[in-house]
Amino acid sequence: MGQRVNLPRRGSYGIDAPYAPAGIAAMIVLFVVLALVSGVRGFFVSALFMLAILGSYLYTTLRGKHVVWSGLLTRAQFRGDERILDMGCGRGAVLLLAAQHLTTGRAVGVDLWRSVDQSGNALEATRRNAAAEGVADRVDLHTGDMTALPFEDHSFDVVVSSLAIHNIGERTGREKAIVEAVRVLQPGGRLMVADIRATRQYRDQLALLGMQDAGRRGLGWRFWWGGPWAATHLVTATKPRQPSGGERS
Ligand SMILES: C[S@@+](CC[C@H](N)C(=O)[O-])C[C@H]1O[C@@H](n2cnc3c(N)ncnc32)[C@H](O)[C@@H]1O
Repeated sequence: MGQRVNLPRRGSYGIDAPYAPAGIAAMIVLFVVLALVSGVRGFFVSALFMLAILGSYLYTTLRGKHVVWSGLLTRAQFRGDERILDMGCGRGAVLLLAAQHLTTGRAVGVDLWRSVDQSGNALEATRRNAAAEGVADRVDLHTGDMTALPFEDHSFDVVVSSLAIHNIGERTGREKAIVEAVRVLQPGGRLMVADIRATRQYRDQLALLGMQDAGRRGLGWRFWWGGPWAATHLVTATKPRQPSGGERS
């Protein structure tokens, strides 16, 4: 459809990993105190450096990721009848943008609603956001673990995930999430995963699973999530229409 989506947004999307900016703010205070007590100017420089990181982090979580995903989903040129799954949808930042591209399709979110990963994270908060964005009629929410998705094989045209898979601590858990994403995709279905780390692992695993055109690219300064060293990358791939030897679904 490629229609314009609503930015700024009418929902309330919280702050990702809220303890991280709180920790950065505490370090800024510490460096300023050390600078004042010791008179060493290097501590002021460190405080300024951490302030820049905090700014980058807050910009990404409050605005940048919404702008970037809005562009990605618009360029994806959905027909409007797709079934789209968002793995680790949280309060719906990406899920509800995707829903704005649908007419008869469904945008399905699955999450464990962990407030350590996003402030105010709860199924009810996402439901309220869906209503605020005017897309509640095409959104379904499920409580579930992305390493064991509660969906049939081949039940989605598109799978997206944003800043979520890295929250699974163990590499084997992240691998299970990727296998699950491939399993629930239809032949010909598309995968888009944005994350701050392990993205080379996702791309290489997708290629091994027989996905076509597995690629990875940076998403730019709007999605730095704490400076260039925490740059978010997008991994994309398409499920072949003919199953290949590598697919394990
Ligand atoms: C940083 S938040 C990002 C949320 C949303 N994708 C966004 O961009 O706003 C990460 C999300 O992943 C969810 N999550 C973490 N581990 C999960 C798992 N194993 N299964 C499902 N969701 C998970 C958390 O509950 C949280 O909502």
